[in-house]
Amino acid sequence: MTVTDAGPCGALRIAPSILAADFGALANAVREIDAETDWLHVDVMDGHFVPNVSIGPPVVASLRPYSPRFFDCHLMMTDPGRYLEAFKKAGADGCTVHVEVGGTASLINDARALGLRVGLAANPDTPFDEVAPFLGDIDLLLLMTVFPGFGGQSFMGDVMTKVSEARREVDANALDVDIEVDGGIDLSTAPIAVHAGANVLVAGSAIFSRPSPLDAARELRASAEAH
Ligand code: DX5
Ligand code: ZN
Repeated sequence: MTVTDAGPCGALRIAPSILAADFGALANAVREIDAETDWLHVDVMDGHFVPNVSIGPPVVASLRPYSPRFFDCHLMMTDPGRYLEAFKKAGADGCTVHVEVGGTASLINDARALGLRVGLAANPDTPFDEVAPFLGDIDLLLLMTVFPGFGGQSFMGDVMTKVSEARREVDANALDVDIEVDGGIDLSTAPIAVHAGANVLVAGSAIFSRPSPLDAARELRASAEAH
């Protein structure tokens, strides 16, 4: 199975999160925002690492024919290693695991061996030091700007210190690592996150809770470009 091109590392990316879309009409939701979608963010919740349950590989497989975009799968799971192959087979392009679940080095190796683009995520209260040792081995660092588990929460501005720290480290070492933020990203917080050093913006509510998700995504991109 081929991997969709993620685009140039470090470039601004808008990643709509389908968690905020109508699950009864996901294919339509994905097609509707296609022109403003760089990556499609797929939030996978296992009811254990986070209190909520969302979707898994069958939904990724069902959506795959409806979108040519990079599928950015965020695995909020205690045991993501058990499912990496299933996500790959379903059509995931990148999988992001949380550093808090441990076994990070082998999860990175396993994801890489499957041909996935590799992401590592950290919760708002997880220090940069926990992810720093892996920066040379990953393609994406996801710094959560809310505690994972639910859409529609408020952006935690304190995380910007960590985003800036990560950006300094990535640039100083000329690493090919994208820095993604996720949670509470909207027209007012997107410029703050980009200014701090993020280049991939995940947004659920700010896109799918608006009357025109396509216009909302376009406005979000413009706000980030004008930071
Ligand atoms: C939170 C998820 C997010 C969520 C963001 O657990 O990881 O991707 O969809 O939703 P908003 O943009 O509504 O905060
Ligand atoms: Zn997410």
